[in-house]
Amino acid sequence: MIRLTGITKVYRMGDEEVHALAGVDLHIAANEYVALIGPSGSGKSTLMNLIGCLDSPTAGSYVLNGRDTSHMNDTELAHVRNQEIGFVFQSFHLLPRLTVLDNVAQPLVYRGIPRAERQARATRALEQVGLGNRLGHRPNQLSGGQRQRVAVARALVGKPSILLADEPTGNLDSRTSAEIMALFDELHASGQTVVVVTHEPDIAAHCRRTIRIGDGRVVDDHANPPREVHA
Ligand SMILES: Nc1ncnc2c1ncn2[C@@H]1O[C@H](COP(=O)(O)OP(=O)(O)OP(=O)(O)O)[C@@H](O)[C@H]1O
Ligand SMILES: [Mg+2]
Repeated sequence: MIRLTGITKVYRMGDEEVHALAGVDLHIAANEYVALIGPSGSGKSTLMNLIGCLDSPTAGSYVLNGRDTSHMNDTELAHVRNQEIGFVFQSFHLLPRLTVLDNVAQPLVYRGIPRAERQARATRALEQVGLGNRLGHRPNQLSGGQRQRVAVARALVGKPSILLADEPTGNLDSRTSAEIMALFDELHASGQTVVVVTHEPDIAAHCRRTIRIGDGRVVDDHANPPREVHA
């Protein structure tokens, strides 16, 4: 599903070059549940942005569901992103003036789906994350954990092939973090491909595979031991 070959990313700052990714080869199959870990500045978000088609590599190839995206222009990338990728960010990125329902329905506007169907699909996505009773609320009328659930519903509403989350629990307390990860566990169990960037070992332990990034390279890649489930 995701195949990165020889991926580099160089940021130019005046006459300085930052080699954010220095040759990444990676394959992630459908229905994997992957944690991307590594120290601050190692290139995790850069890699996430490339996988999510928010940015293009300096060199190397990225094939997503059989399509080589490395030479796509911004319009083509935006199209692939809208079809294939659902994003969740640390800071939720919800639109404050819109209701929960309209926030979740938003990605479908760009697909030209009629309003009634957008609302029906957004309602279903919100029910899936346990927020079917908050459709008319605004983001500031919700708890942090509820806001992140709205963001997850918005990421899922377009039925993306990949759910990408960059530090999704970074703004949440430990109990709420565990609830969000339990939701990701459920989504994975129902067939969703999930990739999570995290600093926290507890969060990475939910995933089935851990890829460690260091200095812009993959420095370790292993299957996680099975999780003990505490009732
Ligand atoms: N837009 C940019 N312009 C220039 N340099 C950048 C840019 N984005 C990232 N970098 C640099 O690339 C390197 C990798 O950054 P990245 O954000 O991918 O790290 P990260 O692993 O996500 O770190 P953190 O855990 O702190 O979020 C860093 O040295 C950073 O300073
Ligand atoms: Mg980052």
